[in-house]
Amino acid sequence: MHEIIVGKEGKIYRVYVENTMDRFKIALKDYKISGESKVFVVTDDLIYNTYKNNIEWLKIKIPFKIFYFKNGEQSKNINTVKKVYDFLIENKVDRESILIALGGGVVGDLVGFVASTYMRGIRYINVPTTLLSQVDSCIGGKVAFNYGGIKNIIGSFYDPEFVYISLNFLKTLDRKEILNGLGEIIKYGLISDGKLLSFLNENAVPILNLEHDKLLHIVIECLKIKNRIVVQDVQDLSIRNVLNFGHTIAHGIEVDSKYKIPHGVAVALGILVAIKISEIKLGLDKTLYNKLENLYRKFGLPTRYKVDNYKSFMYAINRDKKNINENINMVLLENIGKYKIKVNVKSEEILEALKLSIIKEE
Ligand SMILES: NC(=O)c1ccc[n+]([C@@H]2O[C@H](COP(=O)([O-])OP(=O)(O)OC[C@H]3O[C@@H](n4cnc5c(N)ncnc54)[C@H](O)[C@@H]3O)[C@@H](O)[C@H]2O)c1
Ligand SMILES: [Zn+2]
Repeated sequence: MHEIIVGKEGKIYRVYVENTMDRFKIALKDYKISGESKVFVVTDDLIYNTYKNNIEWLKIKIPFKIFYFKNGEQSKNINTVKKVYDFLIENKVDRESILIALGGGVVGDLVGFVASTYMRGIRYINVPTTLLSQVDSCIGGKVAFNYGGIKNIIGSFYDPEFVYISLNFLKTLDRKEILNGLGEIIKYGLISDGKLLSFLNENAVPILNLEHDKLLHIVIECLKIKNRIVVQDVQDLSIRNVLNFGHTIAHGIEVDSKYKIPHGVAVALGILVAIKISEIKLGLDKTLYNKLENLYRKFGLPTRYKVDNYKSFMYAINRDKKNINENINMVLLENIGKYKIKVNVKSEEILEALKLSIIKEE
């Protein structure tokens, strides 16, 4: 089994990275999850319908019960949280019981939150099924839901017992969800030592063909990079901020496109703008921008975006909760792997960089 250990002191846990769910049972045994514990699975309707006839791996626990909610970000709200609480109460879930979050980042974040609060916290296992959740959201302990139109505003830090990744899940994922994961993967490439970026450059076709050995390498690398950062700043007060690289502009793009541009793709575009600002403000080597554009083309990621409404675009950027006192704080790069967090950037500098990057004529 491939496994990596994540988390900090007294709170470490394993991430198993496998091709299939075949070894899930062994993982349960490793964690001494006994026959007495009742198992409850929470997922979304799309995953439920895709996999309902193919969940042999779950039959290790009979009986288990499944609850599913409508897929998508719009379900990541207090009503769904309530429905899951109701399901747990109806089924007499107790402190011995265990929840399995089977799904992408929406399911993982929401079920993690429910697990952290139900009976003051019960155990849960994360089984991430999207590329984004496998390379990113399945570790780090952030669990949350959206409230009052604000993303992830209600939440806590709560780790699963373990994470089990089966790369096979990615086979049923839409190409757009693969691109979504790639935006974050490229982010990890830029904030680490450059090896991951070279790997992406050399293996674009096999990665898009979902070849397992390539995906295995990527998933493990991203999780190791993320874990190295998270353990230094679990509560997200300082260095963890680097995980928002590309995200300030991405937020503007998501809002301006009325969320038609998915998060990971917006992050990829936001990275290009952040790279351009880094050239201007921190003297970042100018060749990196072209190299990145070429990488995006290999993967079919866009390199251009037409801002529809500059006012709402800039408003979204300014309102970003990562910014303090109206200043636009961004993560910028001095070089690959050498980043600066909370760099103060003026609106005019963003507009200038936009003209020189993603809104430039082809
Ligand atoms: N906790 C963290 O640290 C963290 C980090 C990054 C993102 N997030 C959160 O993650 C969420 C986004 O996650 P996501 O991109 O995984 O989105 P998602 O969970 O909405 O999944 C995307 C779509 O893929 C479908 N899907 C999932 N697995 C599938 C499979 N194997 N086959 C076919 N379809 C499948 C889902 O039904 C959904 O329609 C956001 O809410 C974001 O806030 C959290
Ligand atoms: Zn992100």
